[in-house]
Amino acid sequence: MKSTVDDCKIIELPSIKDHRGNLSFIESNEHIPFDIKRVYYLYDVPGGAERGGHAHKELQQLIIAMSGSFDVIVDDGKKRKKFHLNRSYYGLLMPTMIWRELNNFSSGSVCLVLASEKYDENDYIREYKEFRNVK
Ligand code: TYD
Repeated sequence: MKSTVDDCKIIELPSIKDHRGNLSFIESNEHIPFDIKRVYYLYDVPGGAERGGHAHKELQQLIIAMSGSFDVIVDDGKKRKKFHLNRSYYGLLMPTMIWRELNNFSSGSVCLVLASEKYDENDYIREYKEFRNVK
């Protein structure tokens, strides 16, 4: 079945509250429905910058605002939805074949991404028109 923007879900991660500082954790197939094969992060994002602007054929991801905040706009070819991420214990689960754009990064924000596959340029759809055609 093809995923829709309603399949893009905010996952609340475990958060161990402690006066020494809080702790969250993520385990493959426990808190997210895939094996983590890759981790990457966006940082030093200049004000006004946009990231993303593509969809993935097979890749699933969890996107977390590790620090600061930003918006993730998701699009399934029919419907668009905006998520504002600003807590390190919330992650946005991105299923396959969802167009995404990230913007409105706050100064000093860090976007952490847990990915179900290693980097593969062939998994990307970078043209919105092409995405609409195959959706
Ligand atoms: P891209 O996925 O287009 O960035 P974003 O979606 O965050 O705006 O990747 C930007 C560049 O980094 C592109 O040349 C591919 C490279 N890259 C890797 O080499 N490995 C990776 O794991 C990722 C995510 C990107």
